[in-house]
Amino acid sequence: MLTSRPSIFAAFILLLVGFATNAANAQDKKAQATIKLLIPELPTKTFLKVDGKDFDVAATKDGDRMFITPQLEPGTTTKYKIEAKIVPNNYTEIFRIRNVVVKAGEELTVDLTKKDGKIKDDVRVRWVPTPESVVRDMCELAKIGKEDIVMDPGCGDAIMIITAVRDYKAMKGKGTDIDQDRVKESQKSVEMAGLKDKITIKEGNALKLTAEDLGDVTVLMLYMGNELNSRLRPLIWEHMKPGSRIVSHRFIMDDWKPDKTIKVTHEDEFEESVEEFTLHVWSVTGKEKMGIYPKIDPETIDE
Ligand SMILES: C[S@@+](CC[C@H](N)C(=O)[O-])C[C@H]1O[C@@H](n2cnc3c(N)ncnc32)[C@H](O)[C@@H]1O
Repeated sequence: MLTSRPSIFAAFILLLVGFATNAANAQDKKAQATIKLLIPELPTKTFLKVDGKDFDVAATKDGDRMFITPQLEPGTTTKYKIEAKIVPNNYTEIFRIRNVVVKAGEELTVDLTKKDGKIKDDVRVRWVPTPESVVRDMCELAKIGKEDIVMDPGCGDAIMIITAVRDYKAMKGKGTDIDQDRVKESQKSVEMAGLKDKITIKEGNALKLTAEDLGDVTVLMLYMGNELNSRLRPLIWEHMKPGSRIVSHRFIMDDWKPDKTIKVTHEDEFEESVEEFTLHVWSVTGKEKMGIYPKIDPETIDE
């Protein structure tokens, strides 16, 4: 037994050397890399691009997509830009980017199902106007009056700001929209309402609002979808002053519990129908960004 130990040891060393040599040889060779792209489950649709080119391959049985790189040089790294357009419903598009670095022979997973803190998602929603009677209900709910500066960050045709300034005597109104046509339409509506001295409209992305845009706003009026509202929430908490309010047509802001949620109805004369609308109002205390705010389970609120 004693005499066999050195030979077992030698064989073990030889084996290790063999593994190391194979590994070194493998590292010397060109090889493909595999990037597994995890995407949201259907019915959410996801459209992918890799380095600017459409990437439309069949899913694996788990519903994921495999991107196999060309043969990569050993010992170097290669960067890929993965872009996903995620469409969770017929009015929202989420644009998500991930930059990935791979080596020859490597396998890695990129999770496109969740937002992350590094590269922020961009979100667009399509234009669906709020009926004027519902805008009035929103003004009442937020108690808009002559001391208020109101803003709609996705103003459409400016119905919310015009109604707040013209009928509820808000001191000033500000509107932005990402769509140039909506901006022009809003500017025209403001001019026709004779409110050019009180309301300003400009082109802009709601997710890029700064302290300059939001710092003086006392009432933010929203009809922008849960996805956009949830990404607006940190900007609201960062820049809006205590005592300011947010009033939203239909959509909530993650788990931030509204002060009040009401249902209102609107009679559509053309369609001869009565529709029900849900409205929410929140007030900013200034403690939200420290995590101190009333919370709801989002599942318990109807969309
Ligand atoms: C559902 S409509 C609401 C329009 C208006 N607020 C109303 O209630 O009648 C959403 C509007 O937001 C604009 N929009 C979409 N994504 C945006 C974004 N990221 N930043 C700014 N505006 C955006 C759209 O062009 C559209 O006019």
